[in-house]
Amino acid sequence: MEQERIRELVSKMTLEEKASLCSGLDFWNTKGIERLGIPSVMVSDGPHGLRKQEEAADHLGMNESIKAVCFPAGCAVAASFDRETAKLLGETLGMECQAENISTILGPAMNIKRSPLCGRNFEYYSEDPLVSSEMASAYIQGVQSRHVGTSPKHFLANNQEFHRMTSDSVMDERTLREIYMASFEGMVKQAKPWTIMNSYNKLNGTYLCENKEMLTDVLRKEWGFNGYVMTDWGAMNERVQSLLAGCNLEMPSSGGSTDREIVAAVKNGTLEEAVLDRSCEEFLEIIFRYIENKDTDAVFNLEKDHAVAQKIEEESIVLLKNEDNILPLKEGCKAAFIGKYAAKPRYQGGGSSHINSFKVESAWETVKDNGSVIYAQGYDDREDVTDEELLTEAIKVAKQAEAAVIFAGLPDNFESEGYDRKHLRMPKCQNRLIEEISAVQSNTIVILHNGAPVEMPWIDKVKAVLEVYLGGQAVGSAAVNILYGKTNPSGRLPETFPLRLEDTPCYLFYGGENDRSEYREGVFVGYRYYTSKDMPVLFPFGYGLSYTDFTYTNLQISNAKIQDNETLTVKVDVTNIGNCKGKEVIQLYISAKEGQVIRPVRELRAFKKISLDPGETKTVVLELDGRAFSYWNTEIHDWYMEPGSYEIQIGKSAQEILLKKEVQVRTERKLPRIYTLNSTLGEVMQDEKGQRLLGEVLGYTAGQAEGMDAITAKSEDGSQMMNQEMLEAMMGGMPLRQMMSFIPGIKKENLTELIKMLNE
Ligand code: BGC
Repeated sequence: MEQERIRELVSKMTLEEKASLCSGLDFWNTKGIERLGIPSVMVSDGPHGLRKQEEAADHLGMNESIKAVCFPAGCAVAASFDRETAKLLGETLGMECQAENISTILGPAMNIKRSPLCGRNFEYYSEDPLVSSEMASAYIQGVQSRHVGTSPKHFLANNQEFHRMTSDSVMDERTLREIYMASFEGMVKQAKPWTIMNSYNKLNGTYLCENKEMLTDVLRKEWGFNGYVMTDWGAMNERVQSLLAGCNLEMPSSGGSTDREIVAAVKNGTLEEAVLDRSCEEFLEIIFRYIENKDTDAVFNLEKDHAVAQKIEEESIVLLKNEDNILPLKEGCKAAFIGKYAAKPRYQGGGSSHINSFKVESAWETVKDNGSVIYAQGYDDREDVTDEELLTEAIKVAKQAEAAVIFAGLPDNFESEGYDRKHLRMPKCQNRLIEEISAVQSNTIVILHNGAPVEMPWIDKVKAVLEVYLGGQAVGSAAVNILYGKTNPSGRLPETFPLRLEDTPCYLFYGGENDRSEYREGVFVGYRYYTSKDMPVLFPFGYGLSYTDFTYTNLQISNAKIQDNETLTVKVDVTNIGNCKGKEVIQLYISAKEGQVIRPVRELRAFKKISLDPGETKTVVLELDGRAFSYWNTEIHDWYMEPGSYEIQIGKSAQEILLKKEVQVRTERKLPRIYTLNSTLGEVMQDEKGQRLLGEVLGYTAGQAEGMDAITAKSEDGSQMMNQEMLEAMMGGMPLRQMMSFIPGIKKENLTELIKMLNE
């Protein structure tokens, strides 16, 4: 509906109607105003299927919802590293929403995986903001192409479940921009979501629902968001404050009590009615966008969408280990499928994303009629206790087969929304099962069903590991297709699997104290930390194997230098040198070789998934702009492309760089610098003007300070007491004011004059 007409509608509303429009009708519906033809519309979770509740409603996934399709969770979809896959998921969900009269799906969930402990990591995409933002963009473009809204969540810095509703995420500006905001920024600019869901928590002291800087200054003004912002369920703190900050809709309804606060605030002059009007306009624009494009022919085809769920999962499964090329298994080989999850897979997480699947396909069900596979349950996942009978039976079955495939993972009661894990261990009974089976069966393969990284104490004893994540209701058939090579695995880890919890960057501070969670690791999240510290990990970010091999050659860059608004084109040839068709994810990292700020050793700046036939070569083209080389500068409060030498690195993972090329970065932009008596000689000498003025005004050249003789004097054995580098470091750190004491003839007036000229 045109803006003009929306404005007219709002002008016809009473103050009370306007106030109440900005709060839900009930748990899932927005309010309508019949006399003005404003409809009430439904929103629904999300993100990996429809949790449409027609009767008892809740936000914890406890009550029934309609029969639907459970697609792979965010952890898996991100592992596809494939925008087309995320888009396909979005398109399919958009169609389901149209058929079910849902105006907006509550997702994607796109908080950064700061710690593998976060209970909701299974819904989130990555530890890397680029992967998160790109996958979310594709999902959103898919859903919205069906004229249904999305609600990317939870904006912002909602990275733990512990005290998720009251905790304060405290971090510095650069970390906020480069990691946590960046995950949302690219998505908002690229995909233009119809709505945004703000998070429960505070950010640097202010609840997100009343954070004007984030909701208005950044989201709307800087990034160009033009939809409506809704609260997470029950996240509203101060209603009037929220309206002023740019939060349009309180969800769910609060029974009218906060509506009255708005009315009172307008009446007593603390809230301008124009703010309320604008909020209603923004909200109505989206409501009518949905209503006016309603697809009345849409159908929710459960079986068809189940097939889509399987396709997505096959694109996402990550092959972590494949010794002796044990996989793929030969069709007809005698295999023992062991573990409860072979027959009853764990395929989704607990909480608001929980789907009432119309069917679930297990791996055992898929193969049981072909005669070559036998099955044993092996363990129970309701309690972490070894059932000796089940174990004995599993060992017996494993011995009878040519290979044992153990379907293991995290039980429901190990990870969930609302609860952070305390450790990264799998159940002891499952670890023991894997140890005991691998002791009697040299061909042991483990298939993992989990929403976040686990420790693998048995990794050296098994031949192969497949990470299927929480792979949706078709996980069983997808895993079988990978296992037998019908599909070549092509997923890559969107997060690091550390060796142990103690290695994780925020290990010492995760969760925080009381309601204060300090992000002290700064920008060193995930692989940014492990690679900068050159630490061994279990499996690095970006890692994943294939049944074929690829080589990378001929890395080219369009220019050896890049300046300000220019773009750099990077090309690399990738060849499939194996015998089967396969997909590869080309990863481009940037590494700053010098510079004044502390930066991660490398950061992912582009990626692309391609498919190659055996023997085929493709030239992959990736584009980089100035932002790819920039960091967030807290003096200018902006991205700054620091000049200097950078490496373009092409890798198979964050820890396996295959090709490199150097590029020189230049910029016209000067950082503001105010010199004082406390500026150091080193700082002044870095500046060309500074070097000249030191000479001109003070007659200073390096090495003139008193005491220099003592420093450069030879010790008794004739060796120099300080080398040149030490000397420069010592002089470089000297504040200008000290020149009065150490350099003969320099007076305060000289220094004041110098500073004045430096600052001109
Ligand atoms: C979750 C949201 C969800 C909402 C509605 C909240 O508890 O944090 O992600 O969309 O409930 O179920």
